[in-house]
Amino acid sequence: MSRRILVTSALPNANGPIHLGHVLEQIQTDIWVRFQRMRGNQAIYVCADDTHGTATMIKAEQEGVSAETLVENMRQLHMADSQGFLISHDNYCSTHSPENQQYSELIYNRLQEAGLIFIEEVEQLYDPEKSLFLADRFVVGGCPKCKTPDQYGDNCENCGATYNANELIDPKSIFSGATPEMRGSDHYFFDLGRYTDFLKAWTRSDAVQPEIANKLAEWLDDGLRAWDISRDAPYFGFTIPGTTDKYFYVWMDAPIGYMASFQNLCDQDSDLNFDDFWATDSSAEVHHFIGKDIVNFHALFWPAVLDGSNFRTPTKLHTHGFLTVDGTKMSKSRGTFILAKTYLDHLSPEYLRYYYAAKLSGSADDLDLNLEDFVARVNSDLVGKVINIASRTAGFLVNQFNGVLADNVHDEALMAQFHAQVEPIAALFESGDTAKAMREVTALADAANQYIAKHEPWNMAKDPEYRDAVQLVCSQGINMFRCLAIFLKPVLPEMAEKAEAFLSVAPLTWADAEAPLLGHTIRKFKPMLQRIETAQIEKMVDASKQPESASAPTKAKPAATDEAAGVISIDDFMKVQLKVARIVEAAPVEGADKLLQLTLDVGDHRRQVFSGIKAAYQAEDLVGRLTVVVANLAPRKMRFGVSEGMVLAAGPGGSDIFLLSPDSGAEPGMHVK
Ligand code: MSP
Ligand code: ZN
Repeated sequence: MSRRILVTSALPNANGPIHLGHVLEQIQTDIWVRFQRMRGNQAIYVCADDTHGTATMIKAEQEGVSAETLVENMRQLHMADSQGFLISHDNYCSTHSPENQQYSELIYNRLQEAGLIFIEEVEQLYDPEKSLFLADRFVVGGCPKCKTPDQYGDNCENCGATYNANELIDPKSIFSGATPEMRGSDHYFFDLGRYTDFLKAWTRSDAVQPEIANKLAEWLDDGLRAWDISRDAPYFGFTIPGTTDKYFYVWMDAPIGYMASFQNLCDQDSDLNFDDFWATDSSAEVHHFIGKDIVNFHALFWPAVLDGSNFRTPTKLHTHGFLTVDGTKMSKSRGTFILAKTYLDHLSPEYLRYYYAAKLSGSADDLDLNLEDFVARVNSDLVGKVINIASRTAGFLVNQFNGVLADNVHDEALMAQFHAQVEPIAALFESGDTAKAMREVTALADAANQYIAKHEPWNMAKDPEYRDAVQLVCSQGINMFRCLAIFLKPVLPEMAEKAEAFLSVAPLTWADAEAPLLGHTIRKFKPMLQRIETAQIEKMVDASKQPESASAPTKAKPAATDEAAGVISIDDFMKVQLKVARIVEAAPVEGADKLLQLTLDVGDHRRQVFSGIKAAYQAEDLVGRLTVVVANLAPRKMRFGVSEGMVLAAGPGGSDIFLLSPDSGAEPGMHVK
């Protein structure tokens, strides 16, 4: 009996474009979904953008658009990127939708009726200028332990200490720079603690990978605390029923977005019924693909919220690790922080689909995209091995036999090896171990190539005596290729489509690999995948390169869209420290036409900065003057020495352009607001 399966990827944040890390998750999900469909199961894949929260609100304000416009624009970009990677979503909605509001309210009301919601006053930092409660990551100040300045309100990037935002030395709101004050307000809590035992059992069921369950046990063994599900106005989100100024915390309505996107699909397709998938007695399956960073939301809060509101719990969480590129965290300065769009501008999506498939084993281990290995694997496995089988054999069949395949199998034992892998490879796809599945596929491809090399159809074709043998050997080549095209179809859907056209067959299903094509007519072979050229990789990396400020805290999620568009978010801007500096020395640099070497007094110490302003100023005119310097720019090694900051200049030059007027009252070391 075929299975009915609802599948989701985590809902990407609407605060930036997706990158190759998000793509990893979507490709992993899509391979599983396409595999299920080939098996004859009903697999429905929904996703959406995750839109709510303070960050969206502030960013919209910053850009002078409504939050609705902002998130809708981003949703369009995300959908285009997903399509570019051949992700077969059945629906892609937004958490800012009527369906999501309806389900969020329904779930909340049910939780409340079940006595699972209570109200308690919470003291929190408040920005009096913006009239805004501040989450920890919206406050910066000195670390209370090691005194490092400019740390976010939850932990220190320097010494790793964790603390409360109100313990920071000289805390500031990142939105206004104002000193926050403590304020109390009523918050709504979900009584998660009552679910501790339930979740201990649930996380030890088949729904969760054992390694993840072990991690979760660290929280569960201490007993769970109630979960704060409300945020105060102003907030971009849904108001909590019965209130006018309390909103659902973004992580409350985000997973409900899975249901909402599915409901939206049901409304378009009369064969689909919401309750069939979400009622407590549902016989359908629900599978969530997520990264390990959001496992507590999916393995603790979500099942508890579902159970508390009388919905079924997920069948399985498929948790993956994080993507690194060339062995380290993706880096903008190295050009390895690669946006989905940038990749697609330079390379075919199927290369990356294959590479990820060849690396994903179903565990939550991190996964490395090694760019050199990427080129080698794709070129050798796919082009050199798999496609080669068809390209070496098709010509003889088409030219000498009108494309007609032999009526019987030449090497039964070899063909049997392929058919014997139909169920084992399926089991690997089912469990998410596509890495092993790809190894089995390449092993079969090796066997096929050895068989062809051994029989040398190109030599037999010269001798009419071997005519039948040529047809038999080449037909077997095509049948072996066909099996591999089937096994690879979840990974390489476009390649499979080209193979279907070449083989002149209906869309291939998994079961088609159980028997060969006999006496069937194929078409002329056309190349199905090009080799990757190293130059394409270089161009992609160059296009991804952006200067990175190494000294700035990196806690807040990067707003990568805007950076790509040359715009930075307020969060980024708040990282820039501007200080008044006095120029104590200025000298031309030997061998550099444009540079002046400046020694700056920034109050408590001196710095050396190289500045490309020689054309505009006489060195001697600058000495003693005040200017503004970017004080927290990472030191940069230049040909002539290390530059420890950047002087701000504007206009055509001259005495009144970037220098501060002597009677401005500015002093070296002063912060510029
Ligand atoms: N909005 C939340 C998810 C809500 S689900 C109800 C979120 N969004 S996200 O945009 O930050 O991440 C979306 C997914 O991409 C998450 O599963 C996350 O783990 C995954 N990844 C984000 N960066 C990643 C890597 N560098 N590597 C692998 N996966 C990554 O979290
Ligand atoms: Zn510290």
